[in-house]
Amino acid sequence: MSPNPNNGPLKNINNNNIESKVEDIRSSTPTAKETTLEWLVGTLWSIVDFFVFIIQSIGYILEDLYYIAFGYPEKDLLNEIALITGGGNGLGRQLAERLARLGCKIVIWDINQEGIRQTVKLVEAEGGKCKGYVVDISKKEEVYKAAEIVKKEVGDVTLLVNNAGVVSGLPLLDTPDYLIERSFNVNVLSHFWTTKAFLPHMIEKDHGHIVTIASLAGHVGISKLVDYCSSKFAAVGFDEALRLELDVLGHHGVFTTCICPFFIQSTGMFDDVNARWVPTLDPNVVADKVIKAIKEKEKCAILPGYLKAILPLKFIFPWGCTGGLLRRLVPDANPHGNISCPQTVIPEPEKKISSTKTDILANLSDSLPKTASLLIQRTSSSMGERVL
Ligand SMILES: NC(=O)c1ccc[n+]([C@@H]2O[C@H](COP(=O)([O-])OP(=O)(O)OC[C@H]3O[C@@H](n4cnc5c(N)ncnc54)[C@H](O)[C@@H]3O)[C@@H](O)[C@H]2O)c1
Repeated sequence: MSPNPNNGPLKNINNNNIESKVEDIRSSTPTAKETTLEWLVGTLWSIVDFFVFIIQSIGYILEDLYYIAFGYPEKDLLNEIALITGGGNGLGRQLAERLARLGCKIVIWDINQEGIRQTVKLVEAEGGKCKGYVVDISKKEEVYKAAEIVKKEVGDVTLLVNNAGVVSGLPLLDTPDYLIERSFNVNVLSHFWTTKAFLPHMIEKDHGHIVTIASLAGHVGISKLVDYCSSKFAAVGFDEALRLELDVLGHHGVFTTCICPFFIQSTGMFDDVNARWVPTLDPNVVADKVIKAIKEKEKCAILPGYLKAILPLKFIFPWGCTGGLLRRLVPDANPHGNISCPQTVIPEPEKKISSTKTDILANLSDSLPKTASLLIQRTSSSMGERVL
């Protein structure tokens, strides 16, 4: 027969347990006096911390004014190992040449083998050291594998330039899903893989620099660039959050720089753009500014610089003003419907049984070379049709 817990000694034991638990809870619950004291200490600490922040901020502003007047201190880039993604063309190539002149060992990753060959040749012709690897940075396994090879063959990367980028240049509903995914994979997700591959060593040595080549399109939206802009907004956020995190964690020897240029001439990416009022940028000038920003450990470089003063106005003026300015500034981001198509195989989207008109057209287009004109012909201003 099982003992009844409500009778005899067992009942006493249970009661004692309950009483001691109640006592525990009572002693652990703060009294009103203790709660007031805690609140007071918390509030006082908040006020003190606020004044510390104000004093520190005044210090930073004065320091900045001093640097603006007398020049920022510049870091020496001699013997840094600089890895530039997308170094096989455009801005990446210009940066490779300049960093090599400053004494960096250059590593370039690109999917364009011929582009890599040309960059390596150019750098070596000037007496620089440059090694190129064919890496599709949109594939994280490839990035991690290539990072191990670079560590073995060249050494630990101390200056990482996340430069490779792509653009689709179509209205959202005309942009096939795989091009949207490509924009995010190349323009921002790859930054996570490359940074995760090389940041640990930078932290270990408390020495390193991660550069994000974003865009002015990472601060304002432009028609026909919905996927591009959103991936660049993400890249800007990546840089800022990473900078803060490194600071919070006390890794003060690892820096981040974000570069946000307006359209650059003749790199192949936005050669067609119809932009007004702000002149498109010379790639040589942009490359020089990027190098200066790296040397001065600038946090966020907007190119041209005067746009830094105009940008915050978008939060102040009504949308009609902001939108009106943006549509006049860039009447058409891609008038001829060209898609930046690095020399690579764009991954085929999965085939599926088609039933709707859009599906049939999408599959037809998938079986043909992916040129912009085909996409445009097929969808000609088809807001309302979804292109997969
Ligand atoms: N050109 C502009 O007007 C402009 C303006 C603002 C910002 N940017 C940004 O500057 C950066 C450089 O642009 P650019 O004008 O030199 O472009 P670009 O097209 O000349 O060069 C981009 C390079 O990235 C490489 N690349 C593309 N996909 C890749 C992948 N999956 N893996 C490895 N490499 C890949 C290409 O092969 C190419 O060599 C980009 O991030 C771009 O978004 C360009």
